[in-house]
Amino acid sequence: MQDMIIPAHVAVILDGNGRWAKEHHVPRSMGHKAGCENLEQIVEDAARLGIQYFTIYGFSTENWKRSSEEVGALMSLFRYYIGRLKTVAMANNVRVKSIGDRSKFDQDLIDGLNMLEDVTKENTGMTFVLALNYGSRDEIRRGVEKIAEEVRDGSLAPSEITEEVISAHLDTAGMPDPDLMIRTSGELRLSNYLMWQLAYAELYFTDVYWPDFHKEHLVAAIEEYNRRNRRFGGR
Ligand code: IPE
Ligand code: IPE
Ligand code: MG
Repeated sequence: MQDMIIPAHVAVILDGNGRWAKEHHVPRSMGHKAGCENLEQIVEDAARLGIQYFTIYGFSTENWKRSSEEVGALMSLFRYYIGRLKTVAMANNVRVKSIGDRSKFDQDLIDGLNMLEDVTKENTGMTFVLALNYGSRDEIRRGVEKIAEEVRDGSLAPSEITEEVISAHLDTAGMPDPDLMIRTSGELRLSNYLMWQLAYAELYFTDVYWPDFHKEHLVAAIEEYNRRNRRFGGR
């Protein structure tokens, strides 16, 4: 643990809330509640470990296809946890940012997210990035639209569209790419998460359901990251 290199950016797909609920014979919404409670704790743990960017997939562009009952329960939880996250962020010097197309949410939720970003913007510790109504393909589509507008307006030439320009037009502009991606609950998919940014990340999968994923599991993932031989193309 002492000499462990802490990856600067850890991205997580929190998964398995539903199966955790099933295992505990409670409604799915209780699994999501347990997942939110766990998130509060893990944000604090991540900040204390010295992670600089911690990005969590909270709601995908595909998650709208779930039942209206489940989507409604998730929205209610987000409303409530925005307030709780503010407390956790302020207590831990954490700056909160959100990625994804928040325009699809109700206005009070948009206001809450703006408030959370605004209140925490001077914090100098970890940046906690919440991916809400996030999908990589949607993010890239929105970025391409902005680039196309700049080309049309004459402020950018097609030959000037470098990889850096594309990165700068994504929601994650200015953030380093994730070094480590963790997905809980045994699913071995990216599910439309940070597909551009994860190009060279180490991928780590665990069978643990998200509500049961605690600090020791995060540390185990970082230890495994340390055991891997980080090789970028050509080296
Ligand atoms: C992850 O848990 C939370 C969200 C996607 C919002 P799931 O709800 O996907 O849980 P499982 O996959 O059904 O167990
Ligand atoms: C991915 O989990 C999205 C989030 C964690 C928010 P899902 O459980 O929705 O993904 P799929 O549908 O199993 O791929
Ligand atoms: Mg799932």
